[in-house]
Amino acid sequence: MNLERVGVLGAGNIGIGVVTDVVLHGLYAVVVDVSKEQLKRAEAEVLKNIRFAPLLLKSAPRLTKEDALKRIVFTEDLKDVSSCDFVIENVTENWDIKRRVYETLDVVAPPAVCFGANTSCISITRIASVTKRPTQVVGIHLMNPVHLKPTVEVIRGYHTSEHTLEILQQLFAQLNKQAIIVDDLPGFVSNRISHLFMNEAVFVLQDNIATAEQIDTIFKKCFGHTMGPLETADLIGLDTVMRSLDVLYEAYHDQKYRCSPLLRKMVDAGHLGRKTGKGFYAYPE
Ligand SMILES: NC(=O)c1ccc[n+]([C@@H]2O[C@H](COP(=O)([O-])OP(=O)(O)OC[C@H]3O[C@@H](n4cnc5c(N)ncnc54)[C@H](O)[C@@H]3O)[C@@H](O)[C@H]2O)c1
Repeated sequence: MNLERVGVLGAGNIGIGVVTDVVLHGLYAVVVDVSKEQLKRAEAEVLKNIRFAPLLLKSAPRLTKEDALKRIVFTEDLKDVSSCDFVIENVTENWDIKRRVYETLDVVAPPAVCFGANTSCISITRIASVTKRPTQVVGIHLMNPVHLKPTVEVIRGYHTSEHTLEILQQLFAQLNKQAIIVDDLPGFVSNRISHLFMNEAVFVLQDNIATAEQIDTIFKKCFGHTMGPLETADLIGLDTVMRSLDVLYEAYHDQKYRCSPLLRKMVDAGHLGRKTGKGFYAYPE
């Protein structure tokens, strides 16, 4: 049975991409954020993404602003997801925030609804443990730009059931996405490895070995990566990268995940990457 309405919790960097993808594939989105300001920003960004999508993706429909807005509800009330068939959570990468969201979500969402946790590093088993439906929680590591990425790292928590994976596969069939299903440990496959790259790149910059451009160019021209590690960190958001490293450090108690002081300093300075217009590079409006 087709899914129709997706709850999207957190209208930040990645939530905006999730809403764009859901709407471009003909589904409805109920978008929840604690910040009215962020919901306004998300509305503008989603409409911009939808306007440009047909230029970047042949299969993307041409939707008018009115058509797109008919498919989205922006709200500060988590109870509004009670009408949804599936919920994708993308709130701040902070355990206390996520824990409180899942405790409430578990009460307001109908019992049959499954939750897709979009976290960079937090264990899916840990997230599922604060709900009374651990078999219905699955990790979906969607990455930006969500509507241009056909493949998704999916994480099976300790209790995630086959039925939940089938429902997720149904959603992915509608979103035209393929899953690579892996087991659960903090950071999964992608971020256990990529955050070491990004963090070490910041240490190299901090040590004045090379400029940001040189570091990224070596990755692009010598290794053939599409983006360098510092550009990637700017795209993700330096606050999210820092918090993810803290989660990895806490989970593994391994020095290799200690966050670089320069990264922390940039976050303290409010330079979070693309979303604030400045990170390792400048992004004029
Ligand atoms: N940025 C990426 O490229 C990326 C990729 C994959 C996964 N993720 C994960 O997705 C999640 C969100 O990341 P992001 O980069 O969008 O962060 P972000 O900081 O840009 O956005 C987080 C949003 O969550 C909202 N929020 C905070 N508490 C909330 C609550 N109680 N209820 C509803 N909304 C709340 C904030 O207001 C903010 O708008 C994180 O767990 C992150 O690790 C991010």
